Order: sequence, then structure tokens, then C-alpha cells
Amino acid sequence: MAEVLDGLSQQQKSVSPKFFYDERGSRLFDEITRLPEYYVTSTELEILREHGAEMASYIGEGAALIELGIGSPEKARRLLDHLPDLGWYVPVDISESALDRATRELRAAYPELEIRPICTDFTRPLALAGLDDVSKRVLFYPGSTIGNLDPEAASAFLARLRHTHLQPGDGLLLGGDLQKDIAVVEAAYDDAAGVTAAFNKNLLLHLNRRFEGDFDPGRFDHVAFYNAELGRIEMHLRSRQDQVVTLGGRSFHFLEGETLHTESSYKYTTKRMQTLAGGAGYCQERFWTDRRRYFGVWYFSAC
Ligand code: AVJ
Repeated sequence: MAEVLDGLSQQQKSVSPKFFYDERGSRLFDEITRLPEYYVTSTELEILREHGAEMASYIGEGAALIELGIGSPEKARRLLDHLPDLGWYVPVDISESALDRATRELRAAYPELEIRPICTDFTRPLALAGLDDVSKRVLFYPGSTIGNLDPEAASAFLARLRHTHLQPGDGLLLGGDLQKDIAVVEAAYDDAAGVTAAFNKNLLLHLNRRFEGDFDPGRFDHVAFYNAELGRIEMHLRSRQDQVVTLGGRSFHFLEGETLHTESSYKYTTKRMQTLAGGAGYCQERFWTDRRRYFGVWYFSAC
């Protein structure tokens, strides 16, 4: 709660995008992944479908494949189809129900596969003890989830994964969104059906419930725009009027037109991603993309 109140007290009010994901928010995000404008998920899946076999050859036999944040098991399946001799598949997610659902589906689809789900916030160190009898460890971090972090934080996070969990020769299979025509990106974060707007405003309802607040989502507009200088799309909630909101026993004043910054989603060039990972202790082995070059998947090895 301190973190939320602190964000609301800054000159530019902000809330961490992790507050999107209550039960309804997770459902809305799932709906977003199927929107015609939201190219992110469909394009990454297309790349995995096309190049899953080659990615699997980098992962190799007898490895532990550790997936950070399992939204849907669909992506892992594009790799597991080509990994009959995987040592362990370790899905990590903060949501017990999402983890259970994914584990059940994968156990049914791959009865021979050794699955060890870990329910935790993967920004904390993972309990990977007992995963030492494997040929190597490969972290799978898809979905451009890394794009939510500012570059310095993203680099620090990759460096911490490198030093906490990986040895030289281990791997990181990373999905990231690429820079492209601004109109394409803006449409993906402000879809015609208004699902992303509902997703953004749902954060206010989540905050109300968690911290006894009285945000009225009807008094805010969804705004998404590309910040070219920083190479990121930003989502905000813009106050439609001058208003005072109560949360966690404190009052926060919004001027008409003032915004609450709810998310940044960085879009990378291949060069910037390589620099980022290079600075965090990884060497690039391979890069895959789609025909339009909308999305990228990298295989880095720990060096
Ligand atoms: C889950 C962080 C990858 O940034 O594209 C989708 C979240 N926000 N539409 C993204 C999101 C608005 C998504 N990530």
C-alpha cells in the first residue's frame, strides 16, 4: 500500500501495472491478446510456431526449461512439442489458479514430461534447488513482459537472473516487442472495441477493493500514446474533471486533464536489446522475428 500511496503523491501520479491483474483484469488481458489490433501475442505465437524446433535445439536434451509468468501454456507447447527429452519444465506464476490450469493442461498433453510448478512472484529469487542434475537451465521469458520495466530496471532484472540462477552456458529465451510504425502500436493499446480502455480503468476498481478507495472509473478517460523519445507506449487515465479521490485513508487531488500513469511498454530495436542483455551478462546466439518484424525472440547464453 505504501508503494501505491507514494506513486499517487508524485508530481506525475503513477501506479504499477501489476495492479491491472486482479481476476477481472486477467480476463480482460486474455481478451486483449485476441483483439485484431493487439499484434503482440499472435505474432509471438507465429514466431514460436515457425521456429519452435530450432529454439528447442538451443534448449537441448535434458535441460530444465523455466518459464517466467505463464499466461497461457500455448507458447510453451510450441517448444515442448520439440523437446521429448526435456529434464524439467518449471512454470512460475504468481497466480495459483493460472498455474494449476496450465499444469493440468500440460500434464494431459505431455504425460511423460516432468513438471514442477512454482507459485511465486518471479521478481524474487526462485527456489530451484534440486534442478542441478540437468544438462543446463534455460529461462523462458516471453510476451514482452520485460517491456514494462524501464531499461535500467530491465537490465538489473536480467543481471540478477543471470547471477542468481544461471551458469555460463545456460540460456535465456526472451520475447520482446520491436519498434515499428507508431500508428500500429497506438492502435494495439487503444482498440476499437474498448477492451484496453476497460482493462486500464479496471485498475481503479482493483485499487478501490484492495485499499478502500472511491475512484469512479467514469470520471477518467483511457489514453494511450507513443513516447518516441523513450521508445515506449504509455497508458494513462486522464481525469475528466477536478476531483478528490480517497484511497487508503488519504486524499488525492486530480486537476481536470491531469493523468495517472498506469503503464509503459517499451519497444526495442534489436541493437538496444542486445546492448541491454550484453550489459547484464548474456551473449546473443540467435534472433528470430516475423515477416513484418513486429516482434522478436532472442536466445542468449549466459557468458
Ligand atoms: C503483458 C505487459 C506484455 O505491454 O503489451 C496489453 C500489457 N497493456 N495492453 C503489454 C498490456 C495493454 C502487455 N504486457
